[in-house]
Order: sequence, then C-alpha cells, then structure tokens
Amino acid sequence: MTAESGRGSYWITTFGCQMNKADSERMAGILESMGYREAQAELEADLVLYNTCTIRDNAEQKVYSYLGRQAQRKRTNPNLTLVVAGCVAQQEGESLLRRVPELDLVMGPQHANRLDVLLAQVEQGQQVVATEEHHILEDITTARRDSSICGWVNVIYGCNERCTYCVVPSVRGKEQSRLPEAIKLEMEGLAAQGFKEITLLGQNVNAYHGVGFDGDWGLARLLRELAKVDGLERLRYTTSHPRDMDDDLIAAHGDLDKLMPYLHLPVQSGSDRILKRMNRGHTAEDYLRLIERLRDARPDLLLSSDFIAAFPEETEAEFEETLDLIRTVNFGMAYTFKYSSRPGTPAAERPDVADEIGDDRLRRLQILCTSQQRAAQENMVGKEVGVLFEKPGRQPGQFVGKSDHLHAVHVTAEGIAPGDLRRVRVTASGTNSLAADLL
Ligand code: 5AD
Ligand code: SF4
Repeated sequence: MTAESGRGSYWITTFGCQMNKADSERMAGILESMGYREAQAELEADLVLYNTCTIRDNAEQKVYSYLGRQAQRKRTNPNLTLVVAGCVAQQEGESLLRRVPELDLVMGPQHANRLDVLLAQVEQGQQVVATEEHHILEDITTARRDSSICGWVNVIYGCNERCTYCVVPSVRGKEQSRLPEAIKLEMEGLAAQGFKEITLLGQNVNAYHGVGFDGDWGLARLLRELAKVDGLERLRYTTSHPRDMDDDLIAAHGDLDKLMPYLHLPVQSGSDRILKRMNRGHTAEDYLRLIERLRDARPDLLLSSDFIAAFPEETEAEFEETLDLIRTVNFGMAYTFKYSSRPGTPAAERPDVADEIGDDRLRRLQILCTSQQRAAQENMVGKEVGVLFEKPGRQPGQFVGKSDHLHAVHVTAEGIAPGDLRRVRVTASGTNSLAADLL
C-alpha cells in the first residue's frame, strides 16, 4: 500500500509487560513523526513491528509463529519492513537473522528511542542489528499513547537484581534512573493534556535513584514531588522488589492521598529455601512483616503479587509454604506462573520439577488466587470508592472505569464523561467487574 504520507502504514504487536507496552507507545510515536500512519490490519501494513518478550518460553515461541507468517508475506511483498524489537531481539540478536533472514531490523529494548535512526539505515538497504549496551537518553520522543486518561511514565530502566530464574537483567541491562526534573516535566505535560492517572514504570521501580540539582531522589521523594502536579489525580508504580520498600515509601502509602491503595509486590514463593535459591534477598517472614507495615500505613491497601510454581527442586512441602503465605496475606490480585527454564540463567542449571507436578501446582495456585480475587471483589460491595471513568460501556447509558483498587467498575448514569473521577457506591460484584451507583 502506498500512502499520501509517502511512508505507508505500520502495525505493532506487543508481547510481555508494561515496560514493553510503554516502549511500543514511544515507538509508535516515532513512526508517526516519521510519516507512518497506523494500519487497519496487520496483513495490510507496510511495516510490521513485534515488540517481544522472553520471560517464559511460551512468550518467546509465540513470536516465532507470528514471524513465520510475516516472513512468508515478505516473499511476495519485498517492500514490507519487518522489525523485531524488545527482549527476544536482545537475547537472540544476530541469530534471529539467521533464523528469519527476511528480517530488516532486530533491536533490543534499550534502542526503542532510536527507532528512526535505525530505520534510516534499513532504508539504505542494510539489515540492522542493534543490541549493544546503550545509554538511554532522556525521552525526547513523544509517545503515541493508547489512552488519554491513564498513562505510563518510565522512571528507571534495567535491573540490577540477580533473581536466578530471570532473563530481565541480561536483556534490559543495568539500572538507569531518569532525572527527577525530566520526569516532573513529562508529568506536567501529561496533566496539561488531561491525563488523570499515571503509573511510574520500572523493572524494579522502587530502586529508583535519581540525581537532581538538589541531591538524591528515591522513589518516595519522587512520588511526593509528583503528587504536587495539578490535574493529576492518581499515582501508582510498578513493579517493586520487597527488599527496596524503604520506610519513606511505606509512609508515603499512608500520607499521600494521590497514591492509589493498590500495590503490586511480587514475592514469588513462600519458602525460605526457595527464596534463597531464587536469590531474592529476603525471607517469607520479612515479606509478611513488610505487608503488616504497609497495611498499618494504609489499611485498605489491595495487594497483588507474582508467584512461580515448581521452581527447580521445589518440594511439595515448599510449594505448600507458598499456599500458606498466600492464605496469610490474602491478595486482591495475583499473577501465577509455572517455572520456565531460561537459557543462561543460574536456575536453568538445576534439575526441573516434573512437568505434570508443575501443572498440578500451577492449577492449585490458580484456584487459591482466583478465590481470593473473587472474595476481594465481593468485599467491595456496599463500599464507597473513587472511580476514574474511561469509556462508555456495552449497554446504553453505561460507563466503565477503574476503582481506586483497580477493579473494573460499571455505572449506568447520565452526565459522566471520560476522565471524570467520581465517588460511587458498589452495588454488586460480577465475574470480572463491579457494578456501582454514583454518589
Ligand atoms: N519462569 C516463570 N516465571 C517467571 N517470571 C520471571 N521469570 C520467570 C521464569 N523463568 C515471573 C516472575 C516475575 C514475573 C514478571 O514473571 O513471577 O515477577
Ligand atoms: Fe518480557 Fe521481561 Fe522483557 Fe518485560 S522485561 S518484555 S516481562 S522479558
């Protein structure tokens, strides 16, 4: 397809976490500033970009099947530009080109802001691989954001932790914190455009360490500063490491009104031996004490977490310690995974738990977490909460938004507009959402 803009149309498919989604929004912004426009369908696009994830094997395999389809298309349409970005690109680099010779560009996550420069090289007829360590400069790129109400702002890139199961540190590189002034400027810009809720993003966001004109900034200080931005109503952050929850950050949950009562705090396992082998740097008891302190600071805090079932050599008793921890904490939301061995990680050297046992543990984990999730949702019935409305619902007169605790909420009422933050009373709990009346 040829376009009036002269550059044609683009299609981006994003796999993986919010970091990838945020990177995709910035890359879409770059493509549009270059004169590309969004395609109506993947198979019509002149440029196809897969922003990939390698955290678990199934995420990675999905990309290869998508790529096969596009490679075939390219054989009949040589003008098609094929790009693989993100974590598989970083991990596989050159070897991706050998596997899929039709590719034009393979680029790691640290190169997302350089998409225009890399595409210029492609336009000169080169096949480009950009996976070298790169200093991520201040974001001068304007993201093409999917929402105009809720947005993401990267505050720290990379990860210095060494969890033994995880590929992230090797694909996303060392921690690089953005400057506090630059973050505040971006937030003020978003507030001026009408954004109401901002999620501060980082692989390990509470390791944020910004150096400003007046000294050092941790995440708590940054949150306090950002809470002063007029027009922004809600702040949250993800993902955090339990060990980096310092006193000031815990206190901020109690005294910052704009900080949402929702916290994603992955614990992975409830067994000290497994936590140690995961190199998490804390015990189950440390985590439980931390949760108590957080709940003292903010009693209505809704907690969410990540769990891995069947880490190498995990025994049934150790797995049950995870179930016990979950029962003790009572999570409002959970993400459960079966351990997936990742090449190059220390855990990949250890003997795996049998597949059927892993499946069974994952299933039991899911049953427990789903029941807690339901209970947390049902527990909201009768309560008064804030809802940030985002869009009309499926039924006539219905509006959909997110509660302070991130539950989806439906309200049928007159006079609601996208971006309104209103108080509601929850009247019922459905499978995946709450119904409520405006107050
Ligand atoms: N296998 C299974 N789950 C994993 N995660 C990270 N690496 C692996 C792996 N190798 C999970 C962790 C992490 C979440 C983003 O993905 O729970 O918190
Ligand atoms: Fe996937 Fe991790 Fe990369 Fe996010 S950082 S896209 S979870 S591999």
